[in-house]
Amino acid sequence: MLLTASVAFYLGMVCTRAEEAVNSSNIPDVIYELTDEEYYAMPKLFSLDDYAPCLAKGGVYCVGSFELSAPRGHRLFQTMRGWSGNWIDNYNHTRLHRGLCLSEHCSSEPSGYDGHMEKWFESCVNSSTQLDYNISARLYQLDYCKRGAGDFTPLSSNQRAFAAVFATLIALAAISTCLDLTLNDQAKKELSWALCWSLPRSWRALTAPAPKSNSEDLRTLDGLRAFCMMSVILEHVCWLATLSYISDTRGMEQIRRQPDVVLMTNSTLVVQIFFVMASFLLAHKLLMQKKQTPICSTFFETMINRIIRISPSHFLVIWFASSWWERLGDGPLWKPLIEGEAAVCRGKWWTHLLYLNNVIYPNDKCLIPTWYLAADMQLYALALILTLVLRGRRAAIPVLAALFTAVTALNFILAYVWHLVPNFVVHRPESVRVAYGGEASFNVLYQSPLGNAAATFGGLLLAHIHHKLKEDGIHVTEMKTFRWLSICAAPAAAWWAGLSPLLAGGGLPQRLCSAALAAFERPVFVFFVIVALLGAINGIKSPWRTWLSHMGSTVPRLSFGALLLHLPLNKALLATRIAPIQLDRPHAIYQWFGVGVIAYAAAVPLALLIEFPTQALYRELRRARSAQKPTTDPTQEKLDKTAHT
Ligand SMILES: *[C@@H]1O[C@H](CO)[C@@H](O)[C@H](O)[C@H]1NC(C)=O
Ligand SMILES: *[C@@H]1O[C@H](CO)[C@@H](O)[C@H](O)[C@H]1NC(C)=O
Ligand SMILES: *[C@@H]1O[C@H](CO)[C@@H](O)[C@H](O)[C@H]1NC(C)=O
Ligand SMILES: *[C@@H]1O[C@H](CO)[C@@H](O)[C@H](O)[C@H]1NC(C)=O
Repeated sequence: MLLTASVAFYLGMVCTRAEEAVNSSNIPDVIYELTDEEYYAMPKLFSLDDYAPCLAKGGVYCVGSFELSAPRGHRLFQTMRGWSGNWIDNYNHTRLHRGLCLSEHCSSEPSGYDGHMEKWFESCVNSSTQLDYNISARLYQLDYCKRGAGDFTPLSSNQRAFAAVFATLIALAAISTCLDLTLNDQAKKELSWALCWSLPRSWRALTAPAPKSNSEDLRTLDGLRAFCMMSVILEHVCWLATLSYISDTRGMEQIRRQPDVVLMTNSTLVVQIFFVMASFLLAHKLLMQKKQTPICSTFFETMINRIIRISPSHFLVIWFASSWWERLGDGPLWKPLIEGEAAVCRGKWWTHLLYLNNVIYPNDKCLIPTWYLAADMQLYALALILTLVLRGRRAAIPVLAALFTAVTALNFILAYVWHLVPNFVVHRPESVRVAYGGEASFNVLYQSPLGNAAATFGGLLLAHIHHKLKEDGIHVTEMKTFRWLSICAAPAAAWWAGLSPLLAGGGLPQRLCSAALAAFERPVFVFFVIVALLGAINGIKSPWRTWLSHMGSTVPRLSFGALLLHLPLNKALLATRIAPIQLDRPHAIYQWFGVGVIAYAAAVPLALLIEFPTQALYRELRRARSAQKPTTDPTQEKLDKTAHT
C-alpha cells in the first residue's frame, strides 16, 4: 500500500513539473477550447449518403478518407489544425471521412477519367470543400468504390469447407444426442466416447456448480471473471463505435476527460485480472499437489490440457471470421469494417494456431481481443515453468517479487526510450480509427507478453503467499489491518483505473510522466487486485466479495465464448448501420447490455457444439490411454474444471 502511495505521489510530482514545462516551452498551435460556433464552423468529419437507394439506381458509391490543405494564413484551417493538435482527446479534423453517392452528389462523371471512379470521388469532394471552405481535399485512403448492386459471389472453397465442418458438428450433435436419449445406462457406459457431442450432457457440464472447497472460496473468481468480461465488453462497445462513423464528434471529444468516461476507457486494465487469475489457479493447483511430479512431463501435460481447452473454440471463431463473417451483411461501412478484417484473418490465421498472433504481424489485427489468448498462452507457459522450478523452495516469494519489480522497471525503461504512452492515450480516437496500427505502445506494452508479465508474476505471488500463510497457520481474517486493506483494495483498483490517467494532467503528455504511467499503471492495479483477492479467497467478507460470489454461482461459465464472439457480433451490427452513429452515454449503456446478453447467449451454442464436446472427447481419449497404465488422479480433474478460463 505504501509502495502504491509513493508511486502515485511520484507520478503526481513528475507530472506537475511536466505541466510547467509545457507552459514554458509554449506550443502556440494547440487549441484546447472552442465555442460551439467555432467548432461547427469546421467541416463535418463523417458523413454517409444513402447506400441502398444509390446502388439500386445503378449509381456509384465510394467510401474513403481525405486529407485537407489550405493556403497559409487560412483562419479556419489554423483552427482545425490547432484543435487536432490535442491528439489525445480529439480527432484529427484535417481529415474527412466520406461515403458518397457520386452519381447523385456530384456533377456528372467527368470525361477523361474513364473508369477511374476514385478520381471522380476526389474531384467531387475537393470541389465541395473548395466551394464551402476554400480548402483543398486529397484522397489518401480509398476504402472502395462500387457501381450498382453487386452480383452474387459464389462460395469460396474456404467458405465451403467451413460450412461442411459446421454441418458435421450439427450432425454429430444430433446423433450423439439421440444416442444419449435412447441408450440404456450399460450401453452408455460402453459407448461413452460416442456421447461426447450429446447436447444434454454438455448442458449439464455447463450448468454444473463450481466445485467447492471449504478453505477457500474460488467462486469469487468465477464472478470476477464474468464481471471483468462485462467491463471489457463495455470498453469494446465504445471502442468499436469509434472505429465506425460518428455523427456527434463534438460531444465525444467533450466528455473524454470526464471521470466515468476515463474509467470506461481505462477499464481494459481488468484484462490484468484475467492474467492474475490464470497464473494463480495454475500455481494453486500445483502447490496443492502432495507429491512432486516430474517437471518435463507435467509441463507438457498441463500445456496440452490448456491448448485443448482453448483451441477448438478459438480456431473455429477465427475460421468463421475469415470465411463466412463477410457474407452475413451489407452496408456502406461493411467493406472497410468487416471485409478488411476478414482479409487480415485470412492472412494471419496461422499465427493464431501458434498462439503468436500478438507478436507476429502485430500491426494487423484479426479479432483484436484474441491478442489476449496468445499473450495468456505465452505467459501461462512461463508461469508453469516458474512454478515447477520454484515450488517448495524458500526463495519462491522473493524471486517472484524480484521478477515483478524487474519487469516493471524494464517496461519503464522501454517506455521512456521509445516514448510509449499509457493506456488512456493508446485508446485515443485517431489511433482507434486505424485499429492501433503502428502504435508502438499497443505492440510493446498492451498486447505483448512483456507488458502483461507483471500480472502473471502477481498471480504466482498470490498463490505462493496464500500457501505460505496456510502452511504457517496464519489466518488473515484475524489480522485487522490487513482485513481493512483487503476490503478497500477492490474500490482502490477501480479508483486507480479511473483516476490514474488524470495524474498525467490535462493537455499533451510529457515524456517521463507518460512513460511512468505507461509502465506503472498495470503493476499498481495488479497490486490492488492481489491484496483484494488474498482476502477474498481466505474468507474476509466484504460487499463486493458477496456480490461476486453470488454472481459466480449464478452466471454460467461462458465468459470465454463471450470474449471470442462479442467482437464479430458487435462489429457486424455497426457495419450494417446506414448513417453515422451517435456515441454518447445512453448509446454505450444500451449497446453494452445488448451486446453483453447476445454475446453470452451466442456463447451457449459455441460451448455446446465445440468447447464441451472436444473436452469430453479428449477426456475419453486420455481415459482410454490411462486404462493401459492406470494413474488417474480424481482431484486432478476437479481442479481442471476450476481452472477453466
Ligand atoms: C500555464 O499557463 C496558463 C496561462 O498562460 C496559466 O493559466 C496556467 O496556470 C499555467 N499552468 C501552469 C501549470 O503553470
Ligand atoms: C492530422 O492529419 C494531417 C494530415 O494527414 C497530418 O499531417 C497531421 O500531422 C495530423 N495531425 C496530428 C496532430 O496528428
Ligand atoms: C481562396 O484562397 C485563395 C488563396 O489560395 C485566395 O486567393 C482566394 O481569394 C480564396 N477564395 C475565397 C473565396 O476566399
Ligand atoms: C482541388 O481543387 C483545386 C481548385 O479547383 C485545385 O487547385 C487542387 O489541385 C485540387 N486538389 C486536388 C487534390 O485535386
